[in-house]
Amino acid sequence: MRSEILTILRKAGGEYISGAYLAEKLSVSRTAIWKHICALKEEGYDIDSKSRNGYRIISSPDLLTPGEINAVLATNVFGCVIKYYKTVSSTNNAAKLLAQQDAREGTIVVSEEQGNGKGRLSRCWFSPAQKGIWCSLILRPPFLPQEAPKCTLMAAVSICKAIRSLTGVQVGIKWPNDILYNGKKLVGILTEMNAEMDRINYVIIGMGINVNVTVKDMPVEIRNTATSLLQIIGKKVSRVRLLCAILAELENEYEIIKAAGFAPILEQWKKYSVTLGQKVKVIGINETFYGKAVDIDDYGALLVDTGEKIERALAGDVSI
Ligand code: BTN
Repeated sequence: MRSEILTILRKAGGEYISGAYLAEKLSVSRTAIWKHICALKEEGYDIDSKSRNGYRIISSPDLLTPGEINAVLATNVFGCVIKYYKTVSSTNNAAKLLAQQDAREGTIVVSEEQGNGKGRLSRCWFSPAQKGIWCSLILRPPFLPQEAPKCTLMAAVSICKAIRSLTGVQVGIKWPNDILYNGKKLVGILTEMNAEMDRINYVIIGMGINVNVTVKDMPVEIRNTATSLLQIIGKKVSRVRLLCAILAELENEYEIIKAAGFAPILEQWKKYSVTLGQKVKVIGINETFYGKAVDIDDYGALLVDTGEKIERALAGDVSI
């Protein structure tokens, strides 16, 4: 009911809509409308009420509710279904459950806060309420399981482009999936997959984006290594607009991969990479090696020239 009231008020574009009109349109009493308006004001919506004219929306809070996202989203498939939480342990885990229940490709899970946000390599991901984008996207790509890392690279490119075009912040990608600004981490991506030998059942792309996190919000131990858009630009960024921009980029890049293959994404990844050309230490699953990061192959593996041979890292962590 509240999202329907908001839709009508938004469509009116700042004009007053009478309580009687809303009541008739939504088949409830005027008192019920008034109660919903009070609740919306409690949630942070600035709604002006005038006894003769009715209600007029002045501004909306920066919440990642389906209503707020749908008012901005311009995609065909990504974000078609939005599962919204005020708090959840991990959006990736919630998305996995949905994917196992046959959720459609493009379904997203968003939460204002995560109680137990997961990072790569069993790390925790700090996810304070209403300060970032903690979101997971369900994909059902027609790739072989060994091609799944392409989804991570695609996500990194899409997020990088959306941040650059919306905020002008010149972020770069550190292999395999960190987005950095001035060496500090702004975004982490956790891709999880469920597959059989020859086909992927689903891929979950989990994105953690530090949008309006202040230095004070951050635990002391990550203050030197992590940053946020607020800290970089000095002013708040609309989480709704950024998420919608990311979903639009993701949908576009995903269509490109399916129609034209992975090469165009790989080219863009290389353009934004802060890893290629650098001396790196690669901490792989079974071994650690040093060398110069020279390229990335068609499967998203990092190629490192150790001086003796070219090592191929498919997973793990690199420090520059
Ligand atoms: C990393 O370690 O760099 C990856 C961090 C990924 C965090 C995101 S936040 C949304 C999604 N849900 C999770 O539990 N993790 C990912």
